[in-house]
Amino acid sequence: MTNAAKAGLDRRQFLKQFTGATTLVAATGEVLAKAPEVLPPIWKQTSERKIRIGIVGGRFGCSFQWHEHPNCTVAAVSDLIPKRCQALQQRYGCAKAYESLEKLVLDPSIDAVGVFTDAPSHAKHVLLCMDHGKHVISAVPACMDLEQAQAMKAKKEATGLKYMMAETTYYRRHTMMARRLHRDGAFGNLIYCEAEYYHPWPSGSGERHHLAFYNGKRTWRYGLPPMLYPTHSTGFLVGVTGERLTKVSCVGHRPPGDEMYGEDKNVYRNPFDSGMGMFLTDRSHPFRCNVSWGIKAHGERAQWFGDKGAMYCAASGGQPTNIIIPGKRMRSLPNFWEALPPPLRHASGHGGSHTFITHEFIDALVEDREPAIDIYEALAYTVPGIVAHQSSFKDGEQLAIPQFDPA
Ligand SMILES: NC(=O)c1ccc[n+]([C@@H]2O[C@H](COP(=O)([O-])OP(=O)(O)OC[C@H]3O[C@@H](n4cnc5c(N)ncnc54)[C@H](O)[C@@H]3O)[C@@H](O)[C@H]2O)c1
Repeated sequence: MTNAAKAGLDRRQFLKQFTGATTLVAATGEVLAKAPEVLPPIWKQTSERKIRIGIVGGRFGCSFQWHEHPNCTVAAVSDLIPKRCQALQQRYGCAKAYESLEKLVLDPSIDAVGVFTDAPSHAKHVLLCMDHGKHVISAVPACMDLEQAQAMKAKKEATGLKYMMAETTYYRRHTMMARRLHRDGAFGNLIYCEAEYYHPWPSGSGERHHLAFYNGKRTWRYGLPPMLYPTHSTGFLVGVTGERLTKVSCVGHRPPGDEMYGEDKNVYRNPFDSGMGMFLTDRSHPFRCNVSWGIKAHGERAQWFGDKGAMYCAASGGQPTNIIIPGKRMRSLPNFWEALPPPLRHASGHGGSHTFITHEFIDALVEDREPAIDIYEALAYTVPGIVAHQSSFKDGEQLAIPQFDPA
């Protein structure tokens, strides 16, 4: 059943959520008369069930709203670092704490685990949770190599447990709007998309110190290959159209003289601070997708170009949000908050996405359905970057991207 059908959502209710909706409809007519399948449904409580979740990782893991969701209880928390564990307890009002994820998964009262640990540990931690019968939501990326991707797919299919990747791009308002416009045909044929994630932390900057070191020791971010962190970019296309990236040619940038990047300078043997990838999709669409820790620009954004319409996310260079569809321009977006339980209808991290991620995972467990960013979607966002990184060592040679969809 579609989201719209589940919600019993009528068109007028849906349109109330959109700024300028009346004129939008008049302008695009038939296009927007179709059922808005991709709209998150207007929330209605259908169950009193409480999912008992354990949250692991006391930095990013503190930024969700598990304690506010009417169908969720934070049953336990964990971080290897005591003060981060305490931060989780305080944030979620949770009395029970474990010294590690490895201890937390032994608790039989826990239904699901939120894995907000370091990126290189995600695959290992997700597999561990599933081995103990727990559903899992994991921070991005899903994994760091193709063997891990295969193992995660196999484990999910063998256990039938739910997996969700907490991709913030998917629930940015721009992405939600782009999904809706695409599904309703407002772009026409979506010919081309450009997406980018720019987060500069150049040598000598406070941001590099903050991200790459903790207590004087290197963190997992030290020398991190940008294309092993691709999901904030790939999510803008895969998360909007559902298409798959099948080929990539990626050119990497080697910053001269930087102490952090070089094949002998970090655990990843990574010389690149930026990756500019040109992908091809299974629908023969070109997709330009960049990730950079070096260039002087900021943000996660995309622009989508069809033969009838286009949409531009706001950019740090001054480009405003702009939607140009037949006969109409729009510069503002709705917040879609009616899709959420009332306690979650407020601003949240990464473009308002955290409340939606919280709700989607809990709602999927309550309704016993796969979450929107399930294992197949998560790998479709993550694996293309792994192959793009390989391409950049071959001066941009075009490589085929293996697919991890159901057989
Ligand atoms: N927009 C986004 O989607 C977004 C934003 C920020 C971070 N992230 C992701 O979230 C994750 C966490 O980011 P962060 O900045 O908080 O990382 P971090 O390295 O600062 O924190 C990770 C925490 O996990 C804890 N940990 C690791 N192994 C553990 C174990 N076995 N048991 C208990 N605790 C354990 C560590 O002690 C550490 O405090 C990363 O994977 C990052 O990629 C995503």
